[in-house]
Amino acid sequence: MLKNPFREAHYLLNAHRIDQLPADTGAEIAFAGRSNAGKSSALNAICDQQGLARTSKTPGRTQQLVVFPLDETHRLIDLPGYGYAKVPDKLREHWRGTIDAYLRTRESLKGLVLVMDARHPLREFDRQMLAFGAATGRPCHCLLTKSDKLSRSEGARVLAEVRKTLTAEAPLSSAQLFSSLAKTGLDEARALLAGWLFGTPEARSA
Ligand code: GTP
Ligand code: MG
Repeated sequence: MLKNPFREAHYLLNAHRIDQLPADTGAEIAFAGRSNAGKSSALNAICDQQGLARTSKTPGRTQQLVVFPLDETHRLIDLPGYGYAKVPDKLREHWRGTIDAYLRTRESLKGLVLVMDARHPLREFDRQMLAFGAATGRPCHCLLTKSDKLSRSEGARVLAEVRKTLTAEAPLSSAQLFSSLAKTGLDEARALLAGWLFGTPEARSA
């Protein structure tokens, strides 16, 4: 059994601007997706720590870039959700500008986890994120979360459809079914993300 390196994750800081982030060295992975998709819950499930990132029934919970180091050179970043209409225009513009700048300039960003509600995958902003990954050569792993809300056959159908689109539009990307609630898809997600951060997962086995 491999050690779960994500159990080491701990809260460091909230960044309102990108110059407040830790030095741009080492390797990090960002969790992106529509507001309320389940980004923070997915991060917690992967790290096997319930209260690590703050979650909420109300969209717009994560309001800054939240930094969770695993050690001195490896980090996870929880991003504010996009597409949430109720935040004031000025704040939404600020987030959008900040996330864009982060994605464009952050050299330690090794890959993106694109969290999508399995019932509503590949909306406009999700596609923009995939296009961004493709344009900058970064891998993008889609977590089709809340899959506990779908039957097994519906889940399989959604996954096949999403994979088909990815093959056509975003060749560096991948997808899987996931549920933070039912705790399904965790090992698959951990193995893939550990590979981005550390090379092969075996490199981190105890
Ligand atoms: P923002 O930070 O507001 O953008 O949201 P987020 O994407 O971080 O979502 P969050 O993790 O806060 O979850 C939003 C809601 O979805 C909460 O009520 C969660 O309990 C619920 N949720 C998250 N993951 C799952 C899941 O796998 N299954 C089910 N059924 N509900 C989930
Ligand atoms: Mg959140």
